[in-house]
This record gives sequence, C-alpha cells and structure tokens, in this order.
Amino acid sequence: MILVTGGAGFIGANFVLDWLAATGEPVVNVDKLTYAGNLENLASLQGDKRHQFVQADIGDGVAISKLLLQHGVRAVVNFAAESHVDRSIHGPEEFIQTNVIGTFRLLEAVRAYWNGLEGEAKSNFRFLHVSTDEVYGTLSASDAAFSEDHNYEPNSPYSASKAASDHLVRAWHHTYGLPVLTTNCSNNYGPLHFPEKLIPLMIVNALAGKPLPIYGDGQQIRDWLYVRDHCSAIRRVLEGGGLGETYNVGGWNEQANIDIVKIVCTLLDELRPRTDGKTYAEQITYVADRPGHDRRYAIDARKIERELGWKPAETFETGIRKTVQWYLDNPGWVANVQSGSYRDWVQKQYSASADARVFT
Ligand code: NAD
Ligand code: TYD
Repeated sequence: MILVTGGAGFIGANFVLDWLAATGEPVVNVDKLTYAGNLENLASLQGDKRHQFVQADIGDGVAISKLLLQHGVRAVVNFAAESHVDRSIHGPEEFIQTNVIGTFRLLEAVRAYWNGLEGEAKSNFRFLHVSTDEVYGTLSASDAAFSEDHNYEPNSPYSASKAASDHLVRAWHHTYGLPVLTTNCSNNYGPLHFPEKLIPLMIVNALAGKPLPIYGDGQQIRDWLYVRDHCSAIRRVLEGGGLGETYNVGGWNEQANIDIVKIVCTLLDELRPRTDGKTYAEQITYVADRPGHDRRYAIDARKIERELGWKPAETFETGIRKTVQWYLDNPGWVANVQSGSYRDWVQKQYSASADARVFT
C-alpha cells in the first residue's frame, strides 16, 4: 500500500484515480481538507476498498506514524501543500505552517517508520516529494529552460515555502539516508482544478458572463502540462528514480497567459457559443499585476525523458480541449466548489480597486 498526502486536491485526486486505474495498488489518502480539498473529487471511488480516506494534517506526526504502521506503507507521495501564489501574498502564514513545518513533521514521522523497517521493506521504501518549477525563480525570454541544477531563487511566499520543503527533503536524504525522490513540475491543468487558478477561473468566469482578469500585460510565460501526464511522471519516478535525485517534469509547452486565455475563449466559442453570437474574448479585462510576478517559467525535461523514458501523452491542443469539455460536462462540481469561502476569496482578490486587490 502507498500513502498519498493531499489526495483530495487537484493533482492529488487525479493521482489517486490514475494510480488505482494503472496499478490497482491500495492507497491510504491523508488530507486535511482545507478549502482546496474536496471529497467530491474522489466520489467515483465510493465503496472501492482499495482507497481509504483519512482526514488529518501532515503536521500531525502521531496520526501519520499510526497510519504508516497500521497499513505497512511501502511509499509516501507528498502532494499536501498550500498551493496558490496569490493566497500566499495575502497570507503567507499557512504556507509556512503546511509547506515547511508540515513537511518537516511528515519527514520525521516517515524517518522513524523507515528506521523501524528491515531488509527489503527498508531498502525498497520511498518518499516522493512533489514540488514545483517555481522554486527556480524567474527567467528572461532568452534564458535556457530550468534544468535540475539551476539555482534555487524563489520569489513568492509560496515558492519560498516550497523551496524550503525541497531543502528539508534533500537534507533528510543526505543526513539520515532517507530514500527520497523529488519532482519539480511546471503548471498543471485539467479536470478537478480549483477555479482560483488561471485556466479553470477563465472557463468558469467566461461561462458566467464575468470578466476574464489578466494580470499586468498578460505576457508572462508558463509551461503547461496536462495533469494526468504529471501523474504518469510521478509513477515513473517512484518506480525507477534514483535515490536523492530530482526530476524536472514539463510539457515543452511555453505560452503567454493572454494566449492561453484566447485559446480557452476560442474553444468555448466552438463548444458552448455565447447566446449573443459574440466571442468570449470580449470578456478579457486587464487588471493590476501580481506583486513580484515571475515573468517566465520553462522546464528542461530531458533528464526524466532520457533516464526514465517518460513522455507526456497529451499535446496542449488535446489536453486543453479535454479540460474545457470536462468543465462543460460538470457544472454541478463547479457550483459546489463555488461556496461562500470561494466567493469571499474572489471578492478579496478581484475587487474593483487595484489597491484592494493586492493589499487587503
Ligand atoms: P491543491 O491546493 O489543489 O491541493 C492541495 C491539497 O492538500 C488539498 O486537498 C488540501 O486540503 C491538502 N492540504 C493542505 N494542507 C494540508 C495539510 N497541512 N495536511 C494535509 N493536507 C493538506 O494543490 P495542487 O495544485 O493539487 O498541488 C499539489 C502539489 O503539487 C503541491 O505540493 C504543489 O506545490 C505541487 N505542484 C502544483 C502544481 C500546479 O500547477 N498546481 C505544479 C507543480 C507542483
Ligand atoms: P496561476 O494559475 O495562479 O499559477 P502560478 O502563479 O502558480 O503560475 O497563474 C498562472 C499565470 O496566470 C500567472 O502568471 C498569473 C496569471 N493569472 C492571471 O493573469 N489572472 C488570474 O486571474 C490568475 C488567477 C492568474
């Protein structure tokens, strides 16, 4: 059995579904159920004995230790984190608590468990830490893409807290010999993505007839990877990754934000045209920039491709079409996640005054 943390969130839930379909190996899924955790993401697993959900904090060492022992876990995959840059700007505290202190406590619980294992159970055990390309900082247009040996230069409270967690994971390997693996992935998109992030926010706002807010000049570049391709990369690293190694994961798909939004609008124009015959692109609105906004992320994914034979299955064209279609097919999911606390966030982040948007 494996233990997954944060498995009720966007990537974690996709991973649990993908893992069970691909391997059939049981999963114990530990999630605190913050605003971003949603058991509806796992509704299709109801009654499936291979999946056990436990509501707990990764910082609760006692709970984690108990679960590791009880289930004789052979690997831990750590997705649990606070993950939204804009929220980290408004309130960094939770990011330090979960991403730094939570990861530290989780590592300590795992280390104690691993120390108690023997023979093959000990040598085959793995701790896989899921991280982000944002730890490397920002690139100019002419810089080479991030490779695994790029300096860590995080710029946001979110990326700084993830960088700190990566360093802890590295040190627990170097000092204690804990068998760790780290993945640093670019921006994911796909089904179950909480509509505070760029792509799902644009889809749900477009359909609701609301503005499509572009920060600054919209020329910031991200590399986008379909979420199930991230899941397959994590499976490959868990299976064949070298101990203590890090692997960059990306889709070779760099796009400016404004181009992403225009692609989403064009797909919606085709799949669910506006009743007035106009294009959704008319809803695009430029708003004040994000403070400290990183200009460009780009991933050099040659290491994982070369050493582990991983490649993404989706192109951006196929992945974004599937994604838009999923949101059109799941209005109930969208309505349920747009709860009171979601509306409060949107009000705080996108209120008419630019100053209020940034400095509440
Ligand atoms: P998400 O915000 O959708 O989900 C995070 C999950 O973690 C939620 O279910 C939440 O309830 C849970 N969680 C938060 N704090 C917790 C705690 N203290 N204990 C237990 N559970 C807790 O995030 P996501 O987009 O699915 O990202 C998952 C991981 O992947 C994160 O570590 C993130 O840094 C990393 N990552 C994300 C992206 C991306 O584009 N979304 C890209 C690269 C890496
Ligand atoms: P986001 O999805 O928050 O991911 P990240 O900041 O981790 O890359 O944002 C992706 C890009 O889209 C980022 O450059 C910020 C921009 N963005 C907007 O222009 N408008 C928005 O409303 C949001 C949420 C993001």
